[in-house]
Amino acid sequence: MSESHRPARQAHIRTFGCQMNVYDSERMADALRAAGYASTDSPESADLLLLNTCHIREKAAEKVYSELGRMRPYVEAGAREGRRVLVGVAGCVAQAQGEEIPRRQPLVNFVVGPQAYHRLPEIVGRLARGESQLEVMAEFPVEDKFDRLPRRRSVRRPAAYLTVQEGCDKFCSFCVVPYTRGAEVSRAAEAILAEARELIEAGVVEITLLGQNVNAYRGKGPGGALWNLARLLQALSEIDGILRLRYTTSHPRDMDDDLIAAHAEIEALMPYLHLPVQSGSDRILRAMNRGHTAESYVSLISRVRRARPDIAISGDFIVGFPGEEEEDFQETLDLVDRISYAQAFSFRYSARPGTPSATYAGQVDPRVSSERLARLQARIAEHARQFAERCVGQVLPVLLERSGRKPGQMVGRSPYLQPVHLPAPDTLRGEVIPVIIERADANSLAGRLSPT
Ligand code: SAH
Ligand code: SF4
Ligand code: F3S
Repeated sequence: MSESHRPARQAHIRTFGCQMNVYDSERMADALRAAGYASTDSPESADLLLLNTCHIREKAAEKVYSELGRMRPYVEAGAREGRRVLVGVAGCVAQAQGEEIPRRQPLVNFVVGPQAYHRLPEIVGRLARGESQLEVMAEFPVEDKFDRLPRRRSVRRPAAYLTVQEGCDKFCSFCVVPYTRGAEVSRAAEAILAEARELIEAGVVEITLLGQNVNAYRGKGPGGALWNLARLLQALSEIDGILRLRYTTSHPRDMDDDLIAAHAEIEALMPYLHLPVQSGSDRILRAMNRGHTAESYVSLISRVRRARPDIAISGDFIVGFPGEEEEDFQETLDLVDRISYAQAFSFRYSARPGTPSATYAGQVDPRVSSERLARLQARIAEHARQFAERCVGQVLPVLLERSGRKPGQMVGRSPYLQPVHLPAPDTLRGEVIPVIIERADANSLAGRLSPT
């Protein structure tokens, strides 16, 4: 079916998990549009309901089944109106559980893993025509899905995501990603530059490069030589119209000298680095198979700060990993103090089926991990508050992204990724303008347009 085909049906996609899933949902919307399905926000009127799922922690994975349960009334209402409503599961739970999903929830008509969603049109076509009743596609196919997807059409914001690398070879002992997303693969630089140009033509001015290990990027450059992430960022920064570049998520082991230098040299590269560390205890880091120590992480961050002194550092932590003692946890708190994070995410350890650490001795009592998590989050919040307060009184360039809740209000992002609320006309959407920061709230800043 051609892309110009006028959609007669509607698809409703719900997204869980990380930014890569947000990106994938946009691409799935494009693929479905080409197959005749327009996107809709309302599940009531949809002919196709698709959940894009996350497997990272048990709670996330279980959510799929409660969400599927909520879809039953829409499917039944559709049937009463003589409309067949298809239900699909995509994403990391699709990859991990495959055929088990329709066995547990017979409402499901198709399952499609993260590497196979370019085949959605054919899967949905067969189902809609009644040629099959159930489709499960959760293997890792050899073709590159990105080459087989239609142009990007679903982006309507000034800031967009662009996946440049997928998968993970690190095998941290707690993590499902190497199993759900497969081995590390980088896209060719030219395909990325072409997609970036498409986004800019559509009005995008900020691009966040995505990858489970984005700084491990090693993609084929135009001449055939391999490019690293720094080289790719440099080439992207030279495209007319690009104002801001970001990348996430990085691994400490792949933070090379070129990338650190890029933070000093590339003006469009924003001063923000999300660099998960997981724990401050070397004993736990070893058991996690992280391949770095607390000390090597601290010295890495010092080098990054020498290149870009104002950079906002963000991170991820897991508390209650098997064998974690109070002493180990104290080392995590010490690390938080030494780094002084602008922001960080922390999670209670969740034992995931099939991962090595699920069977480790010394599983921590959930009450103990909950208590540690609360202490860690309080410590992180303290540093985040200090970082935000240092912004008060400064004039920061803010990219205005959307209108705020109150009339006459806009919400934008500072270079440090903080949401900034300010009175401003909607006509400034998509522009980067100087804002005087007047107040720091819990998770955002407030200010007003600077006269300069
Ligand atoms: N590629 C990224 C992280 C991807 S998962 C990296 O290497 O850092 C995002 C975060 O989820 C991880 O950083 C980790 O903090 C958390 N996470 C992963 N597996 C988990 C588990 N089994 N239990 C709790 N948190 C987990
Ligand atoms: Fe998971 Fe570790 Fe890979 Fe990150 S680096 S995706 S935590 S296995
Ligand atoms: Fe979740 Fe898969 Fe992302 S498990 S965090 S959606 S890579």
